Amino acid sequence: MGDRVLVFYGSYRRDRMGIRLADFIVARLAARGADVELIDAKAVDLPMLDRMRKEYAPGTAPPAMEALAQKIIAADAFVFVAGEYNWGQQPGLKNLTDHFLEEWFWRPAAIASYSGGRLAGARSNSIWHGTLSEMGMAVISSTISVGPIGQTLDAQGQPIGDAGKALERSFGRFADDLAWWTEAAREQRARKAPPY
Ligand SMILES: Cc1cc2nc3c(=O)[nH]c(=O)nc-3n(C[C@H](O)[C@H](O)[C@H](O)COP(=O)(O)O)c2cc1C
Repeated sequence: MGDRVLVFYGSYRRDRMGIRLADFIVARLAARGADVELIDAKAVDLPMLDRMRKEYAPGTAPPAMEALAQKIIAADAFVFVAGEYNWGQQPGLKNLTDHFLEEWFWRPAAIASYSGGRLAGARSNSIWHGTLSEMGMAVISSTISVGPIGQTLDAQGQPIGDAGKALERSFGRFADDLAWWTEAAREQRARKAPPY
């Protein structure tokens, strides 16, 4: 079986565009043999943070939170599709991630940012880097930045135009880097149990 990869996307907007990039990444990773799943924060729809999962007595966390925790724990790697609102993170995805901590540990994470403009979510990208590091993931240096997203991917997540071609060119290295760190982290976890 291929690497178990979760792709997180977190816009709650009814007219959201970033789902194009999430769909593109899921399709391309699947084509490379990964066992990949989209985690759509809007579909999971955790409440605004009250208790983290670990603050519930064992077995009493809300079912959607517990089900997602089990998926995170079972995963080998994560991709965060990072949109940008007012130079910051999208609240839906940040709220989802904050419900967990140790569940994320000892796995690599990659960031793929986008925006409606030419800066391609660069500020959100760098903010997510610090957040994911703080949550115990090894953030890989390869990244993807897509902008303007509407001129890069069509509604089916297919690349269009010159920007789409550039995305296709950059994806291979991004996925290769993530796969290398995924294998390294998995082998190290098997060789030596994480200290906590
Ligand atoms: C509240 C809000 C704030 C935004 N702020 C930024 C911004 O700071 N930088 C940027 O490049 N685009 C910004 N945009 C444009 C978004 O990049 C664009 O709408 C994008 O499609 C949002 O992602 P989504 O469609 O997946 O929700 C903003 C959009 C919204 C709705």
